Amino acid sequence: MADFHLLIADWYRQNARTLPWRNTKNAYFIWLSEIILQQTRVNQGLNYFLKFQNNYPTVKHLADASEQQVLADWQGLGYYSRARNLHFAAKIVASEFDGVFPSSFDEIKKLKGVGDYTASAIASFAFDLPHAVVDGNVFRVLSRLYDVETPIDTNEGKKIFDSLAKDLLGNNPPAIHNQAIMEFGALHCVPANPNCEICPLVSQCLAFKNKTISERPQKRGKIVPKNRYFHFLQFNDGKNIFLEKRINKDIWQHLFQFPLIESGEGATIEEIKSRLIEKYKITPISVSNQIKHILTHQRIYAHVWRFNSFPNEDLWDENWIKVDSNDLINYPIPRLLDRYLLEE
Ligand code: ADE
Repeated sequence: MADFHLLIADWYRQNARTLPWRNTKNAYFIWLSEIILQQTRVNQGLNYFLKFQNNYPTVKHLADASEQQVLADWQGLGYYSRARNLHFAAKIVASEFDGVFPSSFDEIKKLKGVGDYTASAIASFAFDLPHAVVDGNVFRVLSRLYDVETPIDTNEGKKIFDSLAKDLLGNNPPAIHNQAIMEFGALHCVPANPNCEICPLVSQCLAFKNKTISERPQKRGKIVPKNRYFHFLQFNDGKNIFLEKRINKDIWQHLFQFPLIESGEGATIEEIKSRLIEKYKITPISVSNQIKHILTHQRIYAHVWRFNSFPNEDLWDENWIKVDSNDLINYPIPRLLDRYLLEE
């Protein structure tokens, strides 16, 4: 596709959003933006990016912060392993690279939380290294341009798209080329009802020609998410509450929560209430509505049980910590509980 780069770069110059991580070659800021944007939309990620840029102006500032502070600043973005990995990697950059962000693809990719996509993004945006990025937007643009039937979530699909992306990049300037395809996918070649009438690539687009735009990209069957049933215990004696830290290898690792009991499917509210009374010898004063929280591979159905006193001390769990309810703000908590507290 001879003039692909010229067309897409031209479109980019006319249509790109002005975003703070695009006016810089600072690899640390670019890395920060890419980690934030891994599972977050630009509109939501923007303020977090500005907050992190302000609170941690260099990678050394981030490395020197406590994990709890970093998680608290990440609060609300979800997928907290991103923040833990970011902090861990910042310490590596500070100690092993003397605070200078590594500038080779292989070294960048070794950082925790950095996969092929993110390493290619940083290497190309910050250092103009010739690595083609393949993210969800790029999958969509390429699958339509070449009318690729192979599902994107298969090894074969990944190989095909990597190779197409590399061919298209060729010797063109990597930073602008990659940003341009991604932005074109985000703003113009959108998943539903793209405006093909005014598309600069329409004359080359095989899916448009074959009338398969709405079927691209192709995906293999989805993984069925697992259902989980959470019962949080909000013990409040008028001044203090109990929290516990999630230490197991599970979702929300290292975050704090109200003490939690997990039940199987099908337990009724009345059954849970009886179990709680039997276990803690006090009766909850109320229970929240069901809170549904969707994660990538899990659906959480949660209730929060409210108690206006503490159980007897011999029934306290050794992981519980007593916290002044006004200090709750200092503890990073899962987004599900954040939502609950906002609506309470
Ligand atoms: N999503 C991931 N990386 C991005 C970037 N650099 N600009 C806009 N959206 C993105």
